Amino acid sequence: MTHVPRGRFVTVEGQDGAGKTTNLSVIRDTLESSGIHVVQTREPGGTPWGEALRDLVLNRHDIDIAPIAELLTIFAARAQHIHQVIEPALSSGKWVLCDRFTDATYAYQGGGRGISLDTIALLEDTVQGKLKPDLTLLFDIDIDTSNARARQRSEADRFESEQDSFKQAVRTQYLKLAKQNPQRVKVIDASRPLEQVVRAVRSQVNDFIKAVIGE
Ligand code: TMP
Repeated sequence: MTHVPRGRFVTVEGQDGAGKTTNLSVIRDTLESSGIHVVQTREPGGTPWGEALRDLVLNRHDIDIAPIAELLTIFAARAQHIHQVIEPALSSGKWVLCDRFTDATYAYQGGGRGISLDTIALLEDTVQGKLKPDLTLLFDIDIDTSNARARQRSEADRFESEQDSFKQAVRTQYLKLAKQNPQRVKVIDASRPLEQVVRAVRSQVNDFIKAVIGE
């Protein structure tokens, strides 16, 4: 049997309104231009069951959801996502491009909701084992600009409706993660004009591809 090299796991993070969606297609195109087979997915969600849980987490404005219940729901969706989509793709040599992953849990449930980072780390170990992203692009932007961009979009979900203090805590936690993991997490200044952001994204992704090919 021929040995297929394991694929790589690329994630995209940032506050709501940081311009992550536009850049996902840039990342995907850059990978595909190098002949890489990409499976694009998102969290919370990524499977039919996970998408149902996503809807409960994002859109039930009518329920006072306990932070720990929110956290466990997100990890339940993640466990299914890893089992059904992420692991099979990586094992078969495909690359996975995921719109958010566990860094978002540290930022939103840890920074934003105030859940202990140790609790999140325990669930991360339990659900993911050794699975961690190989490359994370963090789109960073100040709160006023991200709010202005988010306002132009459809109805706000439970996180977009939060106070600025919550959003600031999310941003701070994201930047802390980037500082702690400089090899993996690359911060992209998303307040610049789009063409500059796109150039920075292409450059980071191409550097990563070169490093993988050179391994
Ligand atoms: P988005 O996919 O449109 O960015 O929305 C997903 C929302 O879910 C976003 O506001 C961040 C939030 N979220 C968490 O709170 N924790 C998580 O672990 C993940 C993956 C997302």
